[in-house]
Amino acid sequence: MSETTFETAVVTGAGRGFGRAIAAALVAGGTRVVGVAREEGELRAVRDLLGEGFTAVVGDATDEGLVRDVIREYRPGLLVLNAGATPHMAPLQEHTWETFSRNWHVDTRHVFLWSRAALVEPLAPGSVVVAMSSGAALAGSPLSGGYASAKQAIRYIRGYAAEESERGGLGIRFVALLPQLTPATGLGSVGVAGYAARQGVDPDTFVEGLEPILSPEQVAKAVVHVAGDSSSASEYRVSGAGLRPLG
Ligand SMILES: NC(=O)c1ccc[n+]([C@@H]2O[C@H](COP(=O)([O-])OP(=O)(O)OC[C@H]3O[C@@H](n4cnc5c(N)ncnc54)[C@H](OP(=O)(O)O)[C@@H]3O)[C@@H](O)[C@H]2O)c1
Repeated sequence: MSETTFETAVVTGAGRGFGRAIAAALVAGGTRVVGVAREEGELRAVRDLLGEGFTAVVGDATDEGLVRDVIREYRPGLLVLNAGATPHMAPLQEHTWETFSRNWHVDTRHVFLWSRAALVEPLAPGSVVVAMSSGAALAGSPLSGGYASAKQAIRYIRGYAAEESERGGLGIRFVALLPQLTPATGLGSVGVAGYAARQGVDPDTFVEGLEPILSPEQVAKAVVHVAGDSSSASEYRVSGAGLRPLG
């Protein structure tokens, strides 16, 4: 089975966590990566680590103007829509609408904008869009406000976009990844702390129930695999135990 290598990829949320690992794996494979995030210092550190193969774009991935400018300037063959807000961890009655809807305004909005731009520009035939959903879309996330539903909406957007690509003969593939909760990133460790406290156990004890722990490098490997294999499925769960197609 031959895997496609992309000349240029855009990775949103490339400053840390999964996004940084995804950028590193793509650069190691010979792809030039344009990494988008808001914190300049983190992007600078990634650039120091990865060298010239990494271009930092400091900005908000939910900014429609930035989406258009980045796509037109870099013409990526691969979009990895990974940026995500850290959910406010609290039971429903302790949420405001603002905290409850946080992930809709970042995660979902950015997947909507970049997916729409991929279709409208459009990206070249053979291009791939990988959107980061979450295992929470299947299981729910009762302490994370609207997180699970925001990630479920991303699955719908992926499906709608794939259908439009097909109808328009655009040849753009849309794939969603649903990673398992992991303490290996800042966002994941906030989730772990919240659910551990709810169960009345310490985070280390809670984490034992998540073993084998999913690492950012495994997520990166999964992204490279699903992006490069045109015979791959449309949606995957990824856990410490590996990559599994959904359905
Ligand atoms: N870790 C887990 O357990 C887990 C499980 C399932 C799914 N996921 C999903 O995987 C993705 C990555 O999560 P992670 O754990 O790696 O989180 P993380 O370590 O907190 O990294 C999130 C990244 O997204 C960026 N970001 C957030 N808002 C942004 C915005 N408006 N514009 C541009 N960049 C933005 C952050 O940079 P700035 O703040 O500098 O902008 C950061 O680089 C998220 O979509 C998350 O929901 C994570």
